[in-house]
Amino acid sequence: MDSNKVIIFDTTLRDGEQAPGCSLGPAEKLQVAEQLYRLGVDVIEGGFPVSSKGDLEAVRNIAKSVGRQPDPPEICGLARCVKGDIEACAEAVKPAKRPRIHVFIACSDIHLVHKLHMTRDQVVARAVESVKWARKYTDSVEFSAEDSTRSDIHFLARVFEAVINAGATTVNVPDTVGFAIPNEYGELIRKLREMIPNIHKAVVSTHCQDDLGLSVANSLAAVKAGARQVECTINGLGERAGNTSLEEVVMALKTRKDLFDVTIGIHTKEIAKASRLVSSLTGVLVPPNKAIVGANAFAHSSGIHQDGILKYRQTYEIMNPKDVGIEESTLLLTSRSGRHALENRLRHLGYKLNKKHLNEMFVRFKALADKKRYVFDDDLLSLAEEEATEMQEEYVLDYLHTSSGHGVVPTATVRIKKPNGDVIQEAACGDGPVDAATKAIDKVVGFKPKMLDYNLRALTSGKDAQGEVSIRIEEGGMIILGRGASTDIIEASAKAYLNALNKLSKAKRYRAKNGKGN
Ligand code: KIV
Repeated sequence: MDSNKVIIFDTTLRDGEQAPGCSLGPAEKLQVAEQLYRLGVDVIEGGFPVSSKGDLEAVRNIAKSVGRQPDPPEICGLARCVKGDIEACAEAVKPAKRPRIHVFIACSDIHLVHKLHMTRDQVVARAVESVKWARKYTDSVEFSAEDSTRSDIHFLARVFEAVINAGATTVNVPDTVGFAIPNEYGELIRKLREMIPNIHKAVVSTHCQDDLGLSVANSLAAVKAGARQVECTINGLGERAGNTSLEEVVMALKTRKDLFDVTIGIHTKEIAKASRLVSSLTGVLVPPNKAIVGANAFAHSSGIHQDGILKYRQTYEIMNPKDVGIEESTLLLTSRSGRHALENRLRHLGYKLNKKHLNEMFVRFKALADKKRYVFDDDLLSLAEEEATEMQEEYVLDYLHTSSGHGVVPTATVRIKKPNGDVIQEAACGDGPVDAATKAIDKVVGFKPKMLDYNLRALTSGKDAQGEVSIRIEEGGMIILGRGASTDIIEASAKAYLNALNKLSKAKRYRAKNGKGN
């Protein structure tokens, strides 16, 4: 085997599934295993077969299907150093072209004294016997010394040497309780490789829990020290605080190839899909700021960063989102975004604006972005439409104030720019603030149309979404539609009403000139 290849051992279906509330049925496990195959992982640990009939079934199904594909991964099951466990595991992985049995026993004194009630000699004997037993069923046997990072290094070296002599092909050094610090864990791996005379006959493996948030850093330190298998899970799912995140380790090894100089067989473009699948099947949401697969991992909201990204992506991105299966980076339009990001997004939506027009749009955009956290495409489309209609509109809303409430007479004050440039202010009372606003507008414009319809809908999602109002009015047999949008629904209503009045005004002039019926 290529001595620089790092084996990616996925344990989402075993350690990941041990996360509280994350248990998966056989059909769901198979779905995940199929995606792990597309992702190109080298080993799939499908479960702990002796733990239940369902788990044995799940591992066997995976062995039968994914395990028999062309160029399949090894299909592995976990077993304690107990004959019954090993036999259940052997039965489950048997249909696979490349079966693996993974046996484990604790090696720290804490576990020996308080949990196993065994001496060190007894542990070595049991480990050796179990590896030999597992080797009867398959040539690929992994041995894990549980709680390695709190074990005596000399004892660890003794156990590993003995199990390699017994036929173990992989020796795993688990940081079972997430206790290690990266340079310390790296040193442990380096020293073990020096101390164990037959270590060249086995692959050294890492398995790091995330109790101190250091699982990925520890795994990388181990690779640097010569480990050539990393055990990990999709989205870092696992016992307690979780396990080493596959996507983070893989992308660190790929992005910093200059430092690690190792090869991996992962088709990274399948990462996002794997993450979404595991999240939806387990119900464990991926936090937005999670590296690689979080919703914000490739989203930029600062104006300076957006400008940089648009000029040259690498200014603020060390990975290409396409490499992990994410279509493109997101430039979130917020109040911190600049003209460049706005222009880029508008162009994407089909609007090519000249400098003057863009400046006007930018003023509107900033006003909206101050009121709502994110400005979405629908918001921009409505701003662009508003801008286009206002450019042709004769009456433009300049100011609006309303008051209403329980025991308050609804009143509205409006200021409107007229076609001749005059700015007129009027106030009115009504049945509600919208009614008061439309009456005040009527006073300025001088029309009194009948309101036929009034509709309000949220234009985008979230509490700070813009409301879009559409109104139908009628006067002299002419039925006219007006629309307006704003984060304030009274303002959206006033804009929609004025939009309809502007159209009515034009229609009336047209009629006066050309006669009714033309
Ligand atoms: O955390 C641990 O020690 C384990 C081993 C069985 C690998 O899960």
